[in-house]
Amino acid sequence: MQNRRAFIGSGLVALGAATAFDPRALFAAAAPAPKRILILGGTGFVGPHQVRHALERGHQVTIFNRGRSAPGMFGKDVEELAGDRASDLSALKGRRWDAVIDESASLSSAPEWVRLSAGMLKEQTDQYLFISTRSVYRDTSRVPMTADAPVLTLENSPIAEGRALPYGHAKAYAEKEAHAAMPGRVTVVRPGLIIGPGDDTDRFTYWPVRIARGGEVLVPGDGTDHVQIIDVRDLVQFCVKLVEDRTYGVFNGVGPHMGQPFKEFVDRIHRGVGGTGTYTWVDADFLRANGANPYGRELPVFQVMRGATAGFARFDLTPEIKAGLTFRPMEVTARETLEWFRGEPAERQAGLKTGFTAERERELLALWKARR
Ligand SMILES: NC(=O)c1ccc[n+]([C@@H]2O[C@H](COP(=O)([O-])OP(=O)(O)OC[C@H]3O[C@@H](n4cnc5c(N)ncnc54)[C@H](OP(=O)(O)O)[C@@H]3O)[C@@H](O)[C@H]2O)c1
Repeated sequence: MQNRRAFIGSGLVALGAATAFDPRALFAAAAPAPKRILILGGTGFVGPHQVRHALERGHQVTIFNRGRSAPGMFGKDVEELAGDRASDLSALKGRRWDAVIDESASLSSAPEWVRLSAGMLKEQTDQYLFISTRSVYRDTSRVPMTADAPVLTLENSPIAEGRALPYGHAKAYAEKEAHAAMPGRVTVVRPGLIIGPGDDTDRFTYWPVRIARGGEVLVPGDGTDHVQIIDVRDLVQFCVKLVEDRTYGVFNGVGPHMGQPFKEFVDRIHRGVGGTGTYTWVDADFLRANGANPYGRELPVFQVMRGATAGFARFDLTPEIKAGLTFRPMEVTARETLEWFRGEPAERQAGLKTGFTAERERELLALWKARR
């Protein structure tokens, strides 16, 4: 936590200034009327980026959480309210905010948490922005995918009795709770994999780290399967823009428009981190047969664009782009994520949580070549 705090403390402005691409330029024009924004969460991974960007835009920020993850993280710049989404919202009573950004309801209890918070805040705010997920879609076989595709319900995708609501179901029902409490005043953003500095899951980080190491790199598929993910900074900028413009509706939070082929994804990371390696493309079915599943622990980010997942990374983002979603270059995300990761303690860097170990990668490459 010390490191993440130090990173956040150093400010995203400094991070952006170190590169040729300056995302602030996109938002420099027309300073908005300052808004009072309540962020449910505010710490964790997405929260600090969200808070910093809202402050940079001149808004007044209050955060609400249990005060466990990172108390006092923002000093006096931000009002911190303590409570518990499951059982104690009393700190929110009698207050008023222009907008609420809910980014902490992600467990199976998400519908109940949103029912409680949106139910209480409906008289205290104009807009409730709920950060949902791409996982709400019942299936992603459509091409292109759009926000009106069917979402998970217990009817179309039953779950075993007594089992807690899985993530996708929980988020889909949480969206419904928000709409029910504040009809016509809800904004839903459904991000795909959220990546960038501060992401502790390593799902994206594996790729810049691996590509920067060089040598023979195992890359999945034939390079044509698409990728759609979102840099955390692009996500929070989109959310704040939706609040500034008071835009209601349901939006996806991935990019780029219609996705980019995996080969382009790899090339861009290679350029971003100054890669020196060579790339061996290994058939996705072969990898699966050898225990490495697309989107699984060893193969993060990668998904095959056929059958049930044909549209997984083929979202048509026309409405989102019109509403203000922008995408920074993958080269920048890769370079800055690597810079952040290299500032983490040595033992943390030695233990990437996803991707192939060097030994496993060598073993799979040898098997692949022997097979051919
Ligand atoms: N990571 C991804 O790739 C991805 C993809 C799609 C969507 N999302 C969504 O993005 C959102 C942000 O993700 P994240 O990983 O940054 O956040 P997160 O882990 O879902 O939430 C962390 C925040 O919630 C607060 N919190 C946790 N339990 C609480 C409780 N009982 N009462 C009040 N506050 C509580 C934490 O503070 P305290 O611990 O101090 O309470 C912290 O501020 C989530 O809704 C997630 O579902 C993530």
